[in-house]
Amino acid sequence: MLVFQNISKKFNDHEVLKDISFKIEKGEFIILTGPSGSGKTTLAQIIIGKAEPTSGNVYIDGQPLALLKQDALQLMRRNVGVVFQDFQLLPYKTVGENIAFVLEVCEKPRRKIDEKVEEVLAKVGMIDHKNSFPKELSGGEKQRAAIARALAHNPAILIADEPTGNLDRENIKSIIKLLQDINMNGTTVFLTTHNQDIIHHFENRQKRFMNLKDGRVLEHVGHI
Ligand SMILES: Nc1ncnc2c1ncn2[C@@H]1O[C@H](COP(=O)(O)OP(=O)(O)OP(=O)(O)O)[C@@H](O)[C@H]1O
Ligand SMILES: [Mg+2]
Repeated sequence: MLVFQNISKKFNDHEVLKDISFKIEKGEFIILTGPSGSGKTTLAQIIIGKAEPTSGNVYIDGQPLALLKQDALQLMRRNVGVVFQDFQLLPYKTVGENIAFVLEVCEKPRRKIDEKVEEVLAKVGMIDHKNSFPKELSGGEKQRAAIARALAHNPAILIADEPTGNLDRENIKSIIKLLQDINMNGTTVFLTTHNQDIIHHFENRQKRFMNLKDGRVLEHVGHI
């Protein structure tokens, strides 16, 4: 469903990604590890079309990302849910309103929006926090809310860029479990982290570990 072909990315003279190629198939759970500054966020942003590669192509369902017109890019983005380390919830909106907001931009009827908000909050176990403001939530709860928002458009793929970076051990465990459940239900998940310990939360089967080092991706089968 997603092909990364000979992608390089330079910032001035600094080549962060060097001729990287890989494929992501539907239903996979990919864990991309790499030290801070190795280019994980840069790579994730290229996938979501937020950053452009210096050279190379990204294909989504056979279509080159670079050639997508504005409308098609908008549609593609809806098919890709994104979760960040710092949650990025709107502080003056409740959890429910944060999720409704992303649905309102595509003008769904109010009743449909309300139903969807309830549905995604149920998926992440946050129904009771629908009317809470982000500041009233723990870090783990904020990340659950952000994941619920990312699921609002039923994305085919969920990009989680260092989603556990601001969480303690217990919350790391429960967020990873939640991402695994989401993957079991058919969503492709692409998770980045600098925390090597995270991979111990995964069993070998079905998971794909990639490591970004000196601008190149190394693939591992099973545990590193
Ligand atoms: N917009 C930019 N302009 C210039 N340099 C950038 C820009 N974005 C990223 N970089 C550089 O690219 C490199 C990779 O950054 P990136 O944020 O992708 O790393 P990362 O692996 O996500 O790190 P972390 O684990 O700390 O999040 C860093 O050296 C960073 O300074
Ligand atoms: Mg990063």
